Amino acid sequence: MAALKDNKPKENLSSNNTIGTQYIFVALILLLCTLLFGILGALQYVIPGLFRNNFSFEKVRPLHVSSAVFWILLSACGIVNYYLASIKGKLWSNKLYKWQWYLLIIAIILILSSYILGIFGGREYWEFHPVLAVPIIIAWILFIINVFKSINGFRNQPVYIWMWMTGVVFFLFTFLESYLWLIPAFRANVVKDMTIQWKSYGSMVGGWNMLIYGSSIYLLDKISGTEKYSYSRIAFVIYFLGLFNLMFNWGHHIYTLPIPKYIQYISYAVSMTELFLLGRIIYYWKTSINTAKKHYHILSYRFLIAADVWIFLTLLLAIAMSIPAINIYTHGTHITVAHTMGATIGINSFLLLSFVFDMFNTHNQKIIHKITIGLYITLAALFVFWISLIIAGVIKANWQMHNYTSIPFSVMMHTLHPYFISFLIAGIVASIGIFIIVFTLFSYNIKQKS
Ligand code: HEM
Repeated sequence: MAALKDNKPKENLSSNNTIGTQYIFVALILLLCTLLFGILGALQYVIPGLFRNNFSFEKVRPLHVSSAVFWILLSACGIVNYYLASIKGKLWSNKLYKWQWYLLIIAIILILSSYILGIFGGREYWEFHPVLAVPIIIAWILFIINVFKSINGFRNQPVYIWMWMTGVVFFLFTFLESYLWLIPAFRANVVKDMTIQWKSYGSMVGGWNMLIYGSSIYLLDKISGTEKYSYSRIAFVIYFLGLFNLMFNWGHHIYTLPIPKYIQYISYAVSMTELFLLGRIIYYWKTSINTAKKHYHILSYRFLIAADVWIFLTLLLAIAMSIPAINIYTHGTHITVAHTMGATIGINSFLLLSFVFDMFNTHNQKIIHKITIGLYITLAALFVFWISLIIAGVIKANWQMHNYTSIPFSVMMHTLHPYFISFLIAGIVASIGIFIIVFTLFSYNIKQKS
């Protein structure tokens, strides 16, 4: 019981707690970079060869994807540090917290600059030179030490603490694993090499999802003022499914490799059940929370509900993609991109923004109104954006499987053009929505400080 009480947020501390704010500030700038490079990439879909000489798609894609990944990682680190400091009164070490910050920022600046200069050397999703992984690894080790020392014990811990501890450790493990290809013995066998590569990526996403889902459960209980979910059976089921998912969800990333099919089916079932349960928790939480509490945390509440809608949309697409007869069609098409972006924007980014608005909770009606407008614009545009990618993916999949010998690639790409245009326009509108949200938050904070 003592541990249980110890995990309740220390009153008044969270309002004075500035831990994590620097992380969030830079993460939001990275979110804006993600949008800028995303729009550039989408423009290059519509006008092939645009900026080919200086700023080709080969540069723009890693700039976009790495900005997105670092927006997620940096904000997740900031939020876990912030919540831990709120719960425990302070972090175990502010020095480690600061060094983690410096190392991550140095790594991110070097990585994005190296892409701009055309220096690569890594693999898909981590295209930067492997030497730049070193500051990230050191920063993460500092993070792990600080998280474990701040928590200080395993007894009677709520589910979010388990999720954070597991997430930080697994992220480092899988990040290191994704660099095993540097050792020649792993590179020698293509199937082994690709299996390890995709296994590590799948598990890495599982690692950051643990940080984000843990923070979601913490926030649900914080808003409702209870500990209903922190110690609930269903939340621990999500935790164990997430843990299983971390270890085995890679099965569905390697469909094209010769491995037993049952591995893929189990991993699909587990990752979907985990997502379904999280969606269900938020859905039931929404019906249980009273009006006063909802209004006190209205922005966090709205972003949580937006994420919940996207959990179910992502699940629908994932269920369709998991059917083997359909999955074989979706590889290398825009359906996979729709799935990844739907999840990283609709679920991860909306959940992260709900934590950000918990951190900077405001009751200024004008600000709430502006941010809500930004959210609604984003939601509507994101749906069109997602559908455009799915339709383009279906057309390409059909061509790949049936017509690639009779219809030239260029003719097929021409038929995708209208969907690329709607993807671009919807992407620009969604970016305007997100820009309104971030800009309003920045200007509000600047005004508060001056
Ligand atoms: C919060 C905002 C966003 C996040 C987190 C995000 C995330 C991602 C991720 C993870 C990928 C890799 C997909 C894969 O390899 O399967 C990707 C690809 C891409 N995204 Fe985004 N994205 C965002 C917004 C946008 C916007 C607003 C646009 C366009 C207006 C856009 C355009 C693109 C393009 C063109 C690609 C490359 C797809 C390809 O390789 O063919 N993104 N994005």
